[in-house]
Amino acid sequence: MVAHMTQSHPRISKAVIPAAGLGTRFLPATKATPKEMLPVVDKPAIQYVVEEAVAAGLDDVLMVTGRNKRPLEDHFDRNYELESALEKKGDVDRLAKVRQSSDLATMHYVRQGDPKGLGHAVLCAAPHVGQEPFAVLLGDDLIDPRDPLLKRMIEVQEQHGGSVVALMEVAPEQIHLYGCAAVEGTGEADVVKVTGLVEKPDRADAPSSYAIIGRYVLGPSIFGILRTTEPGRGGEIQLTDALQQLAADEKVGGPVHGVVFKGRRYDTGDRGDYLRAIVRLACEREDLGPDFRSWLRSYVTEEL
Ligand code: UTP
Repeated sequence: MVAHMTQSHPRISKAVIPAAGLGTRFLPATKATPKEMLPVVDKPAIQYVVEEAVAAGLDDVLMVTGRNKRPLEDHFDRNYELESALEKKGDVDRLAKVRQSSDLATMHYVRQGDPKGLGHAVLCAAPHVGQEPFAVLLGDDLIDPRDPLLKRMIEVQEQHGGSVVALMEVAPEQIHLYGCAAVEGTGEADVVKVTGLVEKPDRADAPSSYAIIGRYVLGPSIFGILRTTEPGRGGEIQLTDALQQLAADEKVGGPVHGVVFKGRRYDTGDRGDYLRAIVRLACEREDLGPDFRSWLRSYVTEEL
């Protein structure tokens, strides 16, 4: 009985983090540096994302990388030279910070080659993931560590099977920037059933104000669909288009549900949101916050 239950609900343990995009919105900073390595206060954005996966119980992380992405691999690896220099100085605090990122999770890497779109990046994870449900966390989407989302999505996937997307209500004039979901209510306040999906619709064609944000828990049937998904919007193989096929026909790979997120989330690939993330997280830090907040207060009142 236990074996049967384990088989029908394998524990989700793998996280896939696509980080092979070109990051054109952040040029020239991203000419030679991946956008996921841009610091948010004093940690690269990608470290928050890996920490979030680990906090949700996912200790096997596959990062999908591309050209210029060596710094990502180095960040999650040991740096013996730096460690021994800090050790010699007796700087235990900084030594702990340096070691923390290499001790977080079991990291794996796969190269995407050509950045043919998010759907194609996810497909690159197929050999590593195998036949299990898995999570996808976009490397440039930062969910505030105090507003957990992924754990709830995993619960919903375990309850309903199929796939689960994260949804956030956005203003109508923003919806063309996102994938958008047509939804039906369920008995649970934070869960909806997704009946259709469209990538970056015009405001007039948007079926709702629910935008898909960068967290997914997917059933392995997504891979078969992605293999035959034609390039869509922007000439890219879109994950949203593959999910639309799942939502349109449950027999293909189970239902698609959405968890409605009401917490704080930042797109660190967007310059405005990146600045907001830094200011907010810095204000709330115990070490930096008090000084920074009082400077910010006087800057806003005296100079703006
Ligand atoms: P974005 O839509 O933000 O694209 O990708 P981008 O190319 O990285 O950024 P801009 O728009 O040019 O500034 C969403 C996520 O999907 C990944 C990105 O790294 C990001 O985490 N991605 C996108 C890939 O891994 N491969 C791709 O081919 C495209």
